[in-house]
Amino acid sequence: MKGARSLQGLRIVITGASSGIGRATALQAARQGAALALLARSEDALRELAEEIGREGGFAVPLPCDLSDAERVDALPDEIEKALGGIDVLVHSAGVSTRRELADSFDRFDEVERLADVNYFGGVRLLHAVLPMMLDQEDGHVVNISTGAVLTPIPRFSAYAASKAAMTFFLESAAIELRTRGIDVSTLYFPFVDTPMARPSDSFNRTALKSDTAAAASVLRAIRKRPHKLTYGLWALEWFRAIAPALHRNYLALIFASYASSILPTPRNGVRPWMIRRVWRKSPF
Ligand SMILES: NC(=O)c1ccc[n+]([C@@H]2O[C@H](COP(=O)([O-])OP(=O)(O)OC[C@H]3O[C@@H](n4cnc5c(N)ncnc54)[C@H](OP(=O)(O)O)[C@@H]3O)[C@@H](O)[C@H]2O)c1
Repeated sequence: MKGARSLQGLRIVITGASSGIGRATALQAARQGAALALLARSEDALRELAEEIGREGGFAVPLPCDLSDAERVDALPDEIEKALGGIDVLVHSAGVSTRRELADSFDRFDEVERLADVNYFGGVRLLHAVLPMMLDQEDGHVVNISTGAVLTPIPRFSAYAASKAAMTFFLESAAIELRTRGIDVSTLYFPFVDTPMARPSDSFNRTALKSDTAAAASVLRAIRKRPHKLTYGLWALEWFRAIAPALHRNYLALIFASYASSILPTPRNGVRPWMIRRVWRKSPF
């Protein structure tokens, strides 16, 4: 981790800026003096956010962009150069999610493709466009908004977690190459954050663990300090899985089997003896 820096005057490109973590990050970064380029598909939301930032005395330029549109992404470097004169930090927050059991997904391959197209291919497309600018400057910082579902598998998120894992591992591998070229990579493995993405059901609202403003404060901390990664306590689950993989899987299998469609609340059946017998049909370790 490097020494902390100020956000004053930093040129920051934020994807997913129309909503949730990206939007909250934009507001907080602008208040601390950063100049912003705001990316997402929703043009109106970006324009309104840029106006709000302008009214508060900050600077932000909306650059509407669909990350699954290769031509549009290719045009970004020129637009970022024109808007900000370069780029110091990329906060990559854009993403899509789904939460569905595999057994209910067999006729929905298109959903798997959509997640991969935005979360993985869209992210890589963006890096291909933006990293040359950072390499020319021999300076830059990429903050990738990943998910705890990459640290520990959780039920009903297989397609989402796989797409996020692909992007995360791509960037983590590239980070080794980029390290000696002046570019830092920070991966933020967020737990559930209370945003439109995490509100597909009423029950979820009650269990959201982090507010979008708290998540944004953490993104700003990452911009200032450039850590390798932040895991928000989820390292414990990562270690649990590494040390006792079968126990980890069996424990989650029991939770999955005993709860209804949301992963945390609303007990479906409670834990029944047959579930324990099935889950622990082999040694738990
Ligand atoms: N919320 C959570 O519990 C949670 C937990 C861990 C990690 N994360 C990660 O945090 C990031 C932000 O999610 P959020 O919770 O803030 O969700 P959100 O409120 O739904 O925001 C998602 C953002 O991604 C943008 N986006 C979606 N598809 C896009 C595309 N094809 N091209 C460009 N932009 C696109 C959306 O804007 P438009 O619709 O305007 O394009 C929106 O600004 C995601 O990468 C997510 O995987 C979220």
